[in-house]
Amino acid sequence: MSGPRAILIGLPGAGKSEVGKRLARRLGVDFLDSDDLVEQAAGLTIPQIFSHRGEEAFREIEHTEIMRALDTHDGVLSLGGGAVLHPGTRAALAGRPVVYLHVDAHAASTRVRGDGSRPLLTGDPTVKLAELRAQRAPLYTEIAAITVDTSRRNPRQVTVEVGARL
Ligand code: S3P
Repeated sequence: MSGPRAILIGLPGAGKSEVGKRLARRLGVDFLDSDDLVEQAAGLTIPQIFSHRGEEAFREIEHTEIMRALDTHDGVLSLGGGAVLHPGTRAALAGRPVVYLHVDAHAASTRVRGDGSRPLLTGDPTVKLAELRAQRAPLYTEIAAITVDTSRRNPRQVTVEVGARL
């Protein structure tokens, strides 16, 4: 199957974008982030899409953009933390080099605290991330070809490990 060389999944704050950019540099390929693709397609920021059109509309745009990227992109692709909620996206990820960046809720919350660009993380981010983790961890695990824990490692260390295991 052609398509991305690596597809990064995991909670907000797992380090998907940072590790994805570093991994793409290491592999000498392009990096794409589904959040950027969604914003370009909608002509709106992610908080605007959530507030004007709702989460369900966001998930549909996200699914469409990921399907396109799986067809056309051969570099590194990072997916928004909730992308795996869409059954069509999960099905399309089967058999691909999916890397689950695992993180505990405390480490994730220290990375996203004060970041207003994530509409689902209102209130106490540690509590919200623990909820998202409980809901999504089984989905991430089901889809992952490789799992790497990022909680107590920096992006460079995580990138080296992912690169070695791909
Ligand atoms: C979301 C994660 C965000 C973004 C949107 C929804 C989620 O991406 O797609 O705010 O449902 O977890 P990151 O995981 O890159 O923060």
